[in-house]
Amino acid sequence: MKPKILVTRHVYPEAIDILQAHVEVEYNDSPDGFAPDRLRVAVADKQAIVCQLTDHIDADVMDAAASLRVIANVAVGFDNIDIAAATERGILVTNTPGVLTDTTADFAFALLMATARRIPEADRFLRSGRWHQWEIDLMSGHDVHGHTLGILGLGRIGHGMARRARGFDMRVIYHDAVRATPEEEKKLGLTFVTKDGLFREADFVSVHVPLTGATKHYVGGAELALMKHNAILINTSRGPVVDEQALAQALHAGVIAGAGLDVFEDEPRVDTALLSLENIVLVPHIASASIKTRTRMCTMAADNAVALVTGGVPPNPVNPQVLTEK
Ligand code: DGY
Repeated sequence: MKPKILVTRHVYPEAIDILQAHVEVEYNDSPDGFAPDRLRVAVADKQAIVCQLTDHIDADVMDAAASLRVIANVAVGFDNIDIAAATERGILVTNTPGVLTDTTADFAFALLMATARRIPEADRFLRSGRWHQWEIDLMSGHDVHGHTLGILGLGRIGHGMARRARGFDMRVIYHDAVRATPEEEKKLGLTFVTKDGLFREADFVSVHVPLTGATKHYVGGAELALMKHNAILINTSRGPVVDEQALAQALHAGVIAGAGLDVFEDEPRVDTALLSLENIVLVPHIASASIKTRTRMCTMAADNAVALVTGGVPPNPVNPQVLTEK
């Protein structure tokens, strides 16, 4: 009998082709996932789940699936899954690292540029029929080239930002719990600074830390107060890393000049305090959304799930200790 797998939401069809070649697939081909009670019923007879960051996979879901062996998340982040509960139950969790690095860094840099040069605001202005003449200070923004980029979290995407910043002759400072090697720092022209130092010195702070218990509101009122009045904050990591209320207040009071957000504390709800501001660019969690990359994320998750249930070793384990403890 073929192993059974649940695909919780719509994915690119290439992933379904991979799965159907090896396993029996129950596919919820809809952008909307299952309500918690329906999810528990749907997983009951499954050995694998291919899920997305909008699916909350907790201990109750795992306990409803007696033969569950792998949870393959179609994302590099995995804060939607209770990893400790999975590990305790011997369930492997996998993610999709690497394939989205450059696409996400491209987007984070685009968001930085769009915010600094006020592109969405200028587009709204033109379409509204308010453009009557060229003016010396019309939609003047902030230069990016030659300024200082502060990277908070030097993982794969943080590295990608550093590489892009070199093309704009930027000085790049970073803060991370783990310092890069001297060779790496030299190669990318990086300067390690304290967290406070990063907020004080950077003209642009780009956030790239994962969401954990320790990073909720890692950027709050205290950090924003350290920033320069003409500085800009960019967040493409996870919404709860930034305290949205504190950010809205800082933008409103002119503590900082602007912000670009791809992620929000309570997606898809966006605080009205943010929506009412002009000096913020808001986009719906799309930093990795190129067709090629999203397709690769889906096929990677499918490969991870198939590998485990067919006796192989999944290439992207989040809790690999589950594999050795068996
Ligand atoms: C992820 O992969 O974690 C992103 O947030 C979506 O690409």
